[in-house]
Order: sequence, then C-alpha cells, then structure tokens
Amino acid sequence: MTGKPSGMLSKLADFGHGDTTSAHYDAWAEQYDADLLGEFGYSGHVIAAAAMAEACQDRRAALIDVGCGTGLVGVELAKHGFQTIDGIDIAPEMLAKSRERGIYRGLFEGDLNATTSIADAVYDAAVCAGSFAPGHLAPLALREIIRMVRPGGVIVVFMNGAPFVADDYAGFIKRLADEGLWRVGRIEAMNYMSALDRPGRLIVTERR
Ligand SMILES: C[S@@+](CC[C@H](N)C(=O)[O-])C[C@H]1O[C@@H](n2cnc3c(N)ncnc32)[C@H](O)[C@@H]1O
Repeated sequence: MTGKPSGMLSKLADFGHGDTTSAHYDAWAEQYDADLLGEFGYSGHVIAAAAMAEACQDRRAALIDVGCGTGLVGVELAKHGFQTIDGIDIAPEMLAKSRERGIYRGLFEGDLNATTSIADAVYDAAVCAGSFAPGHLAPLALREIIRMVRPGGVIVVFMNGAPFVADDYAGFIKRLADEGLWRVGRIEAMNYMSALDRPGRLIVTERR
C-alpha cells in the first residue's frame, strides 16, 4: 500500500465543494473500471454491496444505487441476488456504461446535491459507494438519499475517510439521527484500494 494516486484518480484531489465533476467522469467513463480495479485495486463497491446484502435480507427489495457510475455496485448487488436495482448519477457517459451492463431496471441522470426527480420513499434501500467527496456529493446529499427511502429501509454509504473526517460527517450523521431521520447501525473504517493507503468509512443506517 505504498502507491500514490495517479492519472484521473489523482485529479479528484483538486476538486473543492461547489465544483462539478460530471465532465471529469464523462471523460473517464471508458477507462474508469480498468483504472480503479486494475491499477488501484478498488473494492468500495464490493464492501458496500456486501453490507447491503447483510443489512437488507429481502432480495426482492427495490434498491437505488446513488452515484452508480459505471455500475460496479450494481454488478455486486446482482451477485448477492438483488434483482430490482435503479441507478442515478450526474455523468451521462458513466450512466451509459451502467446501461451496457443490462442489470439496472432504471437509470436516471440527476444531481444529488439538489432535489432529484426521484419521488419520496419509493425505495426499500439505498446504497452509495465512492461518491461522497468534495466536488461530488456534499454531506447535505444524505438528506436527499434519506428522502428516497421508505421508513424501515436500509441506507448504506461507503466513502473516502479523508472528507469523512475533514467535513465532520460523523457530526452530520448524528444530527440526522437526532432529527429522527435514521438510526445509525455502524460506522466502520476500512481500506478500499489495495494499491494505496486509502482508508474509507462504511456507514450502515436504517431509515425511520
Ligand atoms: C468514484 S465514482 C463512484 C462510482 C461507483 N459508485 C463505484 O463505486 O465505482 C463517483 C460517481 O459519483 C458521481 N457524482 C459526482 N457528483 C455527483 C452528484 N452531485 N450527483 C450525482 N452523482 C454524482 C460521478 O459522476 C461518479 O460516477
């Protein structure tokens, strides 16, 4: 784990809150899987899907994959037996890659930092891997994800540990719990790129 981020991955560190990454991801869509899986040993999608499979036993559940990108999370969810999976992302070329997989029921273009076209409480569960960071989903997008999920539904987020700490996600997650929006099951630290020292946070909650 001595490697350093390079290429399109290293450029993500330059993004700040308020920047938009959609053009970056559109340009990266073709090479994204090869870079993240082949070069950096990314496993955030595997971690998030496994956590969902454990927390949500009903394989008929309707799931939304938030910031679905090229569909890596959808592939893992399907391996766990989930069959009703929608995805939403801001970058059309990433969505096109998800579409090619033939796994997702519906794929929607949308900015999670605003109110999306998704109706209230239509999903049994939501999963989001690798999409909360500066220039990506801001902490407030947690409210938008919560809005989409029915009471009792599972919400799994896996994210980079650096913005988790810098932007006090722990404080915001607690505030949402204090507001009665969700119950926090667990928050766990784990590395998610075998080629880099890249600690992440797994957050598992239940919508109230
Ligand atoms: C690092 S990728 C993660 C993709 C996928 N979940 C995975 O695990 O491979 C981050 C994704 O978040 C999307 N994204 C960034 N900002 C967004 C926003 N404001 N609303 C929706 N999607 C966003 C990007 O387009 C990109 O596909």
